[in-house]
Amino acid sequence: MTSFLISGIVCALGLSSSVTAVAYGDSVQKSATEKQFSQEFPEGYSFLKHIGGNGPYSERRSYGISRDPPDSCAVDQVIMIKRHGERYPLASTGESIETSLAKLYGAGVTEWKGDLAFLDEWKYYVSNKCWYEAETYSGPYAGLLDAYHHGATYRDRYGDLWNGDVTPFFSSGYSRVINTARKFGEGFFGYNYSTDAALNIISESETLGANSLTPVCYNDNDTDTCDNLPTTMPVFKVAAARLNAQNSGLKLNETDIYNLMTMASFELNNRAFSDWINVFTQDEWVAFGYLGDLSYYYCAGPGDKNMAAVGAVYVNATLSLLNEGPEKAGPLIFNFAHDTDITPIVAALGILIPSEDLPLDRIPFGNPYSIGDIVPMGGHLTIERLSCNATAMSEKGTYVRLVLNEAVVPFNKCQSGPGYSCSLDDYTSILKEELPDYLTTCKVPKSYPQYLDFWWNANTTTDLNYQQGPIGCQEGYTMS
Ligand SMILES: *[C@@H]1O[C@H](CO)[C@@H](O)[C@H](O)[C@H]1NC(C)=O
Ligand SMILES: *[C@@H]1O[C@H](CO)[C@@H](O)[C@H](O)[C@H]1NC(C)=O
Ligand SMILES: *[C@@H]1O[C@H](CO)[C@@H](O)[C@H](O)[C@H]1NC(C)=O
Ligand SMILES: *[C@@H]1O[C@H](CO)[C@@H](O)[C@H](O)[C@H]1NC(C)=O
Ligand SMILES: *[C@@H]1O[C@H](CO)[C@@H](O)[C@H](O)[C@H]1NC(C)=O
Ligand SMILES: *[C@@H]1O[C@H](CO)[C@@H](O)[C@H](O)[C@H]1NC(C)=O
Repeated sequence: MTSFLISGIVCALGLSSSVTAVAYGDSVQKSATEKQFSQEFPEGYSFLKHIGGNGPYSERRSYGISRDPPDSCAVDQVIMIKRHGERYPLASTGESIETSLAKLYGAGVTEWKGDLAFLDEWKYYVSNKCWYEAETYSGPYAGLLDAYHHGATYRDRYGDLWNGDVTPFFSSGYSRVINTARKFGEGFFGYNYSTDAALNIISESETLGANSLTPVCYNDNDTDTCDNLPTTMPVFKVAAARLNAQNSGLKLNETDIYNLMTMASFELNNRAFSDWINVFTQDEWVAFGYLGDLSYYYCAGPGDKNMAAVGAVYVNATLSLLNEGPEKAGPLIFNFAHDTDITPIVAALGILIPSEDLPLDRIPFGNPYSIGDIVPMGGHLTIERLSCNATAMSEKGTYVRLVLNEAVVPFNKCQSGPGYSCSLDDYTSILKEELPDYLTTCKVPKSYPQYLDFWWNANTTTDLNYQQGPIGCQEGYTMS
């Protein structure tokens, strides 16, 4: 409706002569010459969906369910967990990238040709090894910008829920995660951030057991597939042969292609444009993206049979928040952690589980476990509690919806509420029944906290709202 009206206004201003608009009262009707809907879905392709979890945020491809709740409902509580924003590669990834770059530059090529012609000008975006691990701050896809933008967008969407109370929000104790939380907070709370938001930092130490945003499985006995995943794909050999043929002396192999594609996938995180992306074909990117799906699925998702138990910690605790409701538990519960803390939660919720384990020898096209739609950089899972009036199909009451990267994902076993939501009662009883037990599955030491309760013991002091002093070289774990 919005775009419809805007093009009507453009016409009225005389900016378009090919379309004539006629206003009937409030509505605007276009001439029959322009289609209301484009019939094109250009190969259903975006680079941003085929880079594993490495590159810029993009919204989840929606099933078409409206992002806004239906007219009969209003959101009264929001519980979110967000991955840190766009970042530089990890230091370990950086080592592999630098190995293949050294091979490229050491090949004795004096003038780059073909797909690599841009290399005469190009420079690696990590000019200082201290950048590895850090959130990016430069360019249109910068991580800090993502977080601020997300906060401001959520202010617009959920700002009415803020009751003026000092609002605790929660970050795991890792530098880039904390910086994401702070920028989100500045976006959401605006001028009131310094006094009305209170950052709580929850250590990532394993000794926190279940009282953590980053719980681990102490006895993970299902890592065989994860430990032996493929690291290249057949089409990478084609890419290597193409580049080697264009530049004599070059001897790249499929491992180098994987490393260089990895490097390319991170480039947009701090630059507006990447020539490297165009070095590889769409089909090669599709293969690269699937390696990412495999890694998350088998190492941090439902392909590791213990991961749902890890995610159950958060899901179980959110059931308490939802059942206490906004009056008791607060209307806004914002949390910040890592990709591999969110994928276990998605597994525990029982959504996006493929009907069979992902194959290692071919790409199962149409697979629901497409990581670009689950945890891109800045990816987030938002649980909305809805207060709904009766409709012709549903009773007045409290309902729940899962929103992943801004697209509604119906709960598999219960979607009969308004907007394909589930009644809070059914949602709660289904999950109470089905959630695996973290303590026994993961053999949590008895001396560690046995359940999550930091949401109920939050501090309202604002001392941690801002970074004090410089961020260290490759800074990771921190409590400030
Ligand atoms: C539900 O009904 C009440 C009473 O008519 C009304 O005040 C309220 O705005 C309605 N809620 C929604 C979400 O439409
Ligand atoms: C934000 O803080 C300012 C200064 O304390 C205060 O005047 C204002 O009312 C606050 N805004 C809201 C929406 O509470
Ligand atoms: C892991 O251990 C549990 C018992 O603690 C057992 O039920 C499960 O089958 C084991 N899984 C694998 C993959 O060995
Ligand atoms: C590619 O070459 C590097 C050395 O440049 C080597 O370490 C790596 O194992 C090779 N990969 C394959 C698949 O042969
Ligand atoms: C689930 O949550 C409840 C209430 O917060 C808590 O008492 C219980 O120990 C939790 N269970 C697990 C397995 O974390
Ligand atoms: C609140 O602050 C106290 C004292 O610094 C600390 O022990 C506790 O862990 C904090 N709580 C949270 C949820 O961070």
